[in-house]
Amino acid sequence: MKSASLFATDGVGALFRHLFKKTARIPGHEVAHYQFLRKLHLIRLNFRYRGFLRTLLGLMGYLFKKLKLPFFQSYLFNPAAEPENGLDTSGIHEQRDLDIPEEKRSSATRYEASSSFEFRYVLERLRINYPDYHFIDYGSGKGAVLAVAARYPFASVTGIELSTSLHETACRNIEILERQGEVKAASLASFNEDAGRYPLPDAPHIFYLYNPFAADIMQKVLARIRSDVTMRKSPSYLLYNNPMQHDTIAASGLFEKIAEPMGGAWHLYRMRPEH
Ligand SMILES: C[S@@+](CC[C@H](N)C(=O)[O-])C[C@H]1O[C@@H](n2cnc3c(N)ncnc32)[C@H](O)[C@@H]1O
Repeated sequence: MKSASLFATDGVGALFRHLFKKTARIPGHEVAHYQFLRKLHLIRLNFRYRGFLRTLLGLMGYLFKKLKLPFFQSYLFNPAAEPENGLDTSGIHEQRDLDIPEEKRSSATRYEASSSFEFRYVLERLRINYPDYHFIDYGSGKGAVLAVAARYPFASVTGIELSTSLHETACRNIEILERQGEVKAASLASFNEDAGRYPLPDAPHIFYLYNPFAADIMQKVLARIRSDVTMRKSPSYLLYNNPMQHDTIAASGLFEKIAEPMGGAWHLYRMRPEH
C-alpha cells in the first residue's frame, strides 16, 4: 500500500519533521509548533512552484499586511488567483449569493479557489502516468483547479459546477488558457450540473474535492463513482481538500485513506480494488 511516506521522501521535509518532533515536546506549545511547521511548508512550496521572486513578494505582502499597508497583497501565498496569468478565479462568493437551485442551497458550500501550489504538490506526489487518468473537479467554481490540472497531460480535465455564473466564468478562463497554449490535457471542459448527476467514463480517475458540499451530495457522488468506475488496472484516487465529509467517505468503504498531506488539511484516498 502506498502510504503517508509519499509525503516524507525529501531531505528538507525530513529535517523539518525531526526539528518539529524535538521542539514540540515543550508542553502547551503543540498548536503553535504545528502552525509554524505549516508556515514553513507553505514557504517551501512557494519557492518550488511560484519561484524566488514571487515568494519574496509574497513574504513582503505579509509584512505589509501586518503593518496594515496595502502593498503586494496580490502576492500573498493563498490567493489562487495569480493575477499574472490573466484568469478570473478570485474572490469568495457566499453560498447564499450563488445562483443555484433553492433546494440545493443548504447542501452547497461557498465558492473559494484552492491554492494552486498545494494542489500541485499533492498531485505530483502520486507519480501517476497522467494520460491514463481523467481528472474531475466536483464543484469546480471558476475553474482555478481546472486551470492547473490542464497543464498536466491528463486524458481529460472536467469541472462540474452547480452555479451557472461561476461555470460561465470557468468557460471564459478555459478560452483564455487555450488561447495562451497552456492546455496539455487532451480535453478541458466545465459543465453546469449537479455533481451527483454527472456520469463518468469507466476509466481511472483523479477525483478532486475542495469541501464543495454536504453529506447528501457526497453520497450521490460516491454512488455514481461506485456504479460507473470499475476498471482496476490503474487505481483511481480522490484528493480531498478541507475534508469535512471524511466520515461519509469512510462509511462508503469505496476508498481507503493513504495520506493526510498539508498537516491533515487534505486527505488522499485510493479506490479499493475490491469494490
Ligand atoms: C470551495 S469551492 C471550490 C472551487 C474549486 N473546486 C477550487 O478548488 O478552486 C466549492 C464549489 O462547489 C460548488 N457546488 C456546491 N454544491 C455543488 C453541487 N451539488 N454540484 C456541483 N457544484 C457544487 C459551489 O458552487 C462552489 O463553487
